[in-house]
Amino acid sequence: MAAFSPEQYDMDILGNGKTVRDFIDNKIKEHTLVDCKEPFHVANLGILLKKHLCWLNNLPRVKPFYAVKCNNTPAVIRMLSALGTGFDCSSQAEIQLALSLGVTPDEIIYAHTCKPEHYIKYAATHGVQMMTFDNQEELSKIAHCHANAKLVLRIAVDDSKSLRRLSSKFGANLATVGKLLERAGELGLEVIGVSFHVGCECTDSSAYRQAIADARHVFDIAKLLGFQMSLLDIGGGFPGSEDVQVKFEEISAAINLALDEFFPLDCGVQIIAEPGRYYMESLFTLAVNVIAKKVVMEEAAEHNSNENIPDRVMMYYINDGVFGSMSFLINDPVYRKLSPYLHRTVESSEQRYRSVIWGPTCDSMDKITDDCSLPELQVGDWLLFDNMGAYTVCLSTNFNGFGKAHIYSVVTPEAWQALIPSHTCSPLHD
Ligand SMILES: Cc1ncc(COP(=O)(O)O)c(C=O)c1O
Repeated sequence: MAAFSPEQYDMDILGNGKTVRDFIDNKIKEHTLVDCKEPFHVANLGILLKKHLCWLNNLPRVKPFYAVKCNNTPAVIRMLSALGTGFDCSSQAEIQLALSLGVTPDEIIYAHTCKPEHYIKYAATHGVQMMTFDNQEELSKIAHCHANAKLVLRIAVDDSKSLRRLSSKFGANLATVGKLLERAGELGLEVIGVSFHVGCECTDSSAYRQAIADARHVFDIAKLLGFQMSLLDIGGGFPGSEDVQVKFEEISAAINLALDEFFPLDCGVQIIAEPGRYYMESLFTLAVNVIAKKVVMEEAAEHNSNENIPDRVMMYYINDGVFGSMSFLINDPVYRKLSPYLHRTVESSEQRYRSVIWGPTCDSMDKITDDCSLPELQVGDWLLFDNMGAYTVCLSTNFNGFGKAHIYSVVTPEAWQALIPSHTCSPLHD
C-alpha cells in the first residue's frame, strides 16, 4: 500500500478531543437538519487496534486471518491489513475485494471447502494458493483448476459446545482423512496443513484443546503417508464481547497450552486462525429513527388500581430491522438480546413502559424486541444499538425498498498515530 491517509481509508479522524459519541450527535443533528433521518452505523476503527493488541498479547503464536464474511466494510479491511492480519475469504467476490484493497494473495486463505470451479480458477489466476477442502470431489476440481494450490484439510470437530455449529456442514471425519490424503497424493496435490472451526461463540475452551489434539492426529497420519505439513488453522469462534460465558482470555490460555503440548514452538508449524466476530462485534454502533408509534392499552390493566404500574404498552416502528442490519435476530438465534437506548437525555424520574420495537417492513417477523423498558418515545426520536459489527451490515437487504444503513468510519487521533508506525516499522507487523 503506497499512501496512508484517512481519505484513502474512507474514514474521519476525530479532532479537538471529540469522541465517537460527539460524532454520532453531530450526524444526528445533520440528518435532522436536512430532514432525512435514515439509519446509520458508526464504526470506531480504533477498537480494531485494541482488539489486535489484545490478540497479540493472548495468542502470540497465532496469526489472525480475519474472516471477511463477518463484515466486509472496506475501511475495516484496509485497517486490519495495515495492522498485519491475513484474510479468510469464502468466495470470489471476497477475494476480489481484499485484492482491490491492497491485500497480497499470500495473505489470503480461501477457506471454503465446497467451491464453484470458476471461483477456484479465479483464485489460481490471481495468485491465491491457500485453500481448504474436505472431500474427494473438491480435490478433483482443484486438480483440474488449480494444480499448484496449497491445500488445507478441514476436519470436523466436536462443536457441541458452540452456539452456532458448523461441523455438520463442513469438515472431514477423522476416519476419512487417510483416504482423502491418499487421493490428494495420487492427484499430485500439495497438502500443507489442517484446519477446523469449533463453531461460533464457543462456550467451552476445552473444545479448542480437543480439536488441536485431533489436528495433531491428522498431522501424524499425513506424515506416515509422506506429507510434510506446516500449517495449522484453528478457525474462528472467538467471542466478540466481554458479556459471554467463556472469555477470550480463557479460550486463549487453553489454546496456548494445547499448542505447546501438540505443536511445540520448535515443530516448524505455522499457526493461523480465522476470527470474525472477535474483531467486529463491538466496532459498530447503529443509530435508528422512530418512524411510527402506537399506544396499546393493556386489557388487564383496565382494572389496575396500582397507579405505579403503567397501563399501556408502547409499540414503536424504527427504520432498520431484521431485513436490514439485524437479520441475526432470525438467522442466528444465539445472539444476545438487543438493548437499545435513547439518544436524547432521559431523566431518571421519567416513567418507563414495556415497549415493543418493530422494524420498518410489512413482515410481522420484522420484530426487534418485545420486552424492552423505555421512557415514552416520540416519532423522530433516535435510538442507539451498540455491538452491531458482526454479521450485520453484510447480511442487510433492501426488502420492501428500505435502504441499507450508511456506514461512517471514524478513528481517534491517538489510534491513528498508533497505526502509522504499525504500517511502516511496526512491532505489530510480523
Ligand atoms: C470457515 C469460517 N471461518 C471463520 C468464521 C468466522 O467465525 P467467527 O465469527 O465465529 O469467528 C466462519 C463463520 O462462519 C467460518 O465459516
